[in-house]
Amino acid sequence: MPEPNPLEKRLLLENLDRPDYTPDLACYLRHGGYASLRKALAMRPAEIVAEVKASQLRGRGGAGFSCGVKWGFIREDEKRPVYLICNADESEPGTFKDRQLIHKDPHQLLEGIAISAYAVRARVAYIYLRGEFPQGARILERALAEAREQRFIGPKVLDADFSLEIHLHRGAGAYICGEETGLIESLEGKRAYPRIKPPFFPAALGLYQCPTIVNNVETLCNIVHILRMGGAEYAKIGRPNNTGTRLIGVSGHVKRPGYFEIENGALTLGQILNELCGGVREGRKLKAIIPGGTSSKVLRMGEKFKIKLCRPDGAAVEKEVGLLDLPYDFDSLVAAGSMSGSGGVIVLDDSTDMVKALHNLNRFYAHESCGQCTPCREGTLWLQKITDRVMGGGGRSQDADLLTNIADNIAGRTICAFGEAASWPVQSFVAKFRDEFEAAGKATGP
Ligand SMILES: Cc1cc2nc3c(=O)[nH]c(=O)nc-3n(C[C@H](O)[C@H](O)[C@H](O)COP(=O)(O)O)c2cc1C
Ligand code: SF4
Repeated sequence: MPEPNPLEKRLLLENLDRPDYTPDLACYLRHGGYASLRKALAMRPAEIVAEVKASQLRGRGGAGFSCGVKWGFIREDEKRPVYLICNADESEPGTFKDRQLIHKDPHQLLEGIAISAYAVRARVAYIYLRGEFPQGARILERALAEAREQRFIGPKVLDADFSLEIHLHRGAGAYICGEETGLIESLEGKRAYPRIKPPFFPAALGLYQCPTIVNNVETLCNIVHILRMGGAEYAKIGRPNNTGTRLIGVSGHVKRPGYFEIENGALTLGQILNELCGGVREGRKLKAIIPGGTSSKVLRMGEKFKIKLCRPDGAAVEKEVGLLDLPYDFDSLVAAGSMSGSGGVIVLDDSTDMVKALHNLNRFYAHESCGQCTPCREGTLWLQKITDRVMGGGGRSQDADLLTNIADNIAGRTICAFGEAASWPVQSFVAKFRDEFEAAGKATGP
């Protein structure tokens, strides 16, 4: 296990730094495991929801929605069964954080699920695991058996008036199964066609048409620490509205790619690139960064961004910063026109052909569209066909505008946010690297 970088703040990954740490229950218990669950079972569910609200925890699956607010949608007098789903699909390209939590500390996740299920009054929970994670499945099955044997799950958990069964469900490898309503359809045994919201907000009409909370792996692991330290104390990590830590996975043209845990907003993209990852490859210059998985908009070196920086006294000051000075947190990256999304930071150096890079993404999104909505089904294929033609040497001068026009007509016109996920790379690549798209168009076309 490589030494953690001193710039990191390890909360969810803390156990991994212990010498000889293994993913079995005995080891987890030796280091205080399941103490938060014991604490939670002595509280009322509403008190736990209040702690999570106080922590200001935002979902780590992509959209950054408030976890406490989402849990608060479940009515205290709900008569229908309530379900909790852990979204472990981790399908966003460039993202490899949840698998670390699953492989290396599975009981932290199970404890987070058990506390969360108790808080939202769910008696059945599912882990929807990406199909390509066979090792994760083996580790989780073993951890579930251990937890069942020691009565951390099952009937009357630790003798409390609370029973919980957790089922592991393996997906079959489609990106759209990560979208929460597509995931629910898949869990019901159907094709993963996302549902229309409204009315199918999972908290109101989810699995089997019952109230369902869907949370990401990292979000649920955070719950263990919020219970341990209390919501207000947790909220001191990071900055207001951007609390806690973030797990990021850095890939691409860096000397030392890898996954890291950082305090929200404490590091800039420049520090992540240079101090955590050793900078871009030898002899190369930074060209761009995709900050939150391939669905987030690309940020170009040389761009200026107006963001709000938080002073130590909590007041916000407006400032113009360059790419390397952008703090890595939810709000700063949204202010910069992109997002921290799934925490997948992809670094591109000056050897990158942006037309070719976009073509790669277009192929992915055309392949993964579920096909329900015409703009997405047809549009993603058109986008791929255009960059296919350009890559084959048949670029035309109008291609840059055509690509943007098609993307503009997908985003905002579809059932699920896949439409945006497929369009944002196109819109941002063409707008920020138009010269490259025009040069490719001039090569052969009219
Ligand atoms: C196309 C698409 C793919 C998604 N893939 C994932 C995924 O792999 N994992 C995940 O946690 N969330 C994914 N999401 C987000 C989920 O729909 C949902 O917002 C999330 O699981 C909620 O958890 P959170 O509130 O803890 O972030 C995806 C969304 C879209 C539109
Ligand atoms: S936007 Fe695309 S992926 Fe989402 S429902 Fe429509 S066709 Fe399917």
